[in-house]
Amino acid sequence: MTKELTQLQILTELEPVAEQNLNRHLSMAKDWHPHDYVPWDEGRNFAALGGVDWDPSQSRLNEVAKVSMITNLLTEDNLPSYHREIAENFSQEGAWGTWVGRWTAEENRHGIVMRDYLVVTRGVDPVALEQARMIHMTNGVRHPEGWGGFLHSVAYVTFQELATRVSHRNTGKVCHDPIADRMLQRIAADENLHMIFYRTMCGAALDLVPDQAIAAIVEIVTNFTMPGYGMPNFRRNGVMMAKHGIYDLRQHMEEVVAPVLKNWNIFERNDFGPTGEQARERLATYMDKLAQDVVKFEEQRDRMLAREAAREMASL
Ligand SMILES: [Fe+2]
Ligand SMILES: [Fe+2]
Repeated sequence: MTKELTQLQILTELEPVAEQNLNRHLSMAKDWHPHDYVPWDEGRNFAALGGVDWDPSQSRLNEVAKVSMITNLLTEDNLPSYHREIAENFSQEGAWGTWVGRWTAEENRHGIVMRDYLVVTRGVDPVALEQARMIHMTNGVRHPEGWGGFLHSVAYVTFQELATRVSHRNTGKVCHDPIADRMLQRIAADENLHMIFYRTMCGAALDLVPDQAIAAIVEIVTNFTMPGYGMPNFRRNGVMMAKHGIYDLRQHMEEVVAPVLKNWNIFERNDFGPTGEQARERLATYMDKLAQDVVKFEEQRDRMLAREAAREMASL
C-alpha cells in the first residue's frame, strides 16, 4: 500500500510533470483573437445611444441555440469561481503558478467572444443575459461538502473541461450560423487542450498516490453535475439541452466520463491498495447504473418528443 502524501508533497512531486505539460500546452495552443470571430458589421446602437433596443424578432437563433449559448456563456462567466478553486488548490509557484495564470487568461477569451457575438448579432436579450450573469456570478460555483484540495480539483476540471468542449461543439451545430459554429469550434479546441493538461496531471497523481487519487476521482464522478448547475432556469435549460442532444446523459457517459477513465486505465490498474480497490468497485457500480439511466432517459425523451410531435400535428 502506498503512503499518504500531503497536498504540498503531491504538488512538489508533480511539479516537473506540470512544467513539461505546461510547455507542451504552450507549444500546442493557438493564439487567436476574439475580434476575428464576431461579425461587427451586423452591430448597431441600442436605445441609450439613439438606436433600437433588443426585441425577440431580431434574433436568428432558435430556442435550443439561445438556451445553450446562454448556459455556456454563463459557465464561462463564472471564471472567477473556477480561478479561485484552481488558484487555492494548485501552487502559485513555478510551473503551477504559470499554468493558473495562463489558463485563466485563455478562459477569459471564451466569455469575451461569446458575449460580443451575442450582443452584436442580437442573438439573445442583452438585459436578461446581464441579469442572469449577475445572479450566477454572485452565487459562484459551490461544490459539495468535503470537496477540496488538489486531487478533487484536478479530477473535477478534467471532466468539466471535456463536458464544456462537448457542449460548445454541439451548440455550434444548432446555431445554423457558420460564424457561431466557427467561434464555438475554436473555443471547444481550447477546452480540449485544457482537458489534456488536467487529465495528464490527474493521471500523474494516480501513479503517485493511487489510493488517494482514485478516492477523489470517484467522489467527483459520482457527484458530477451538468454544466450550468446553479444558474437561473438551470433545470428547464438543462432539460432542453439534454433533450436536443447538446449535452445529454449518453454524451456524458460515452464522450466524457468513460474515455477519461479509460485514459487513466482505471479498470486495468493493479496498483491500488484495499481502499483504492473499494473506491474502484464503487465506481464500477456507478458506471453500470449510469448505463441503465442512459437507456431510461432516452426512453423518456423519445416518449416526450413523440407526444410533442403528436400535439403539433393535432394543432395543424
Ligand atoms: Fe472555456
Ligand atoms: Fe477550458
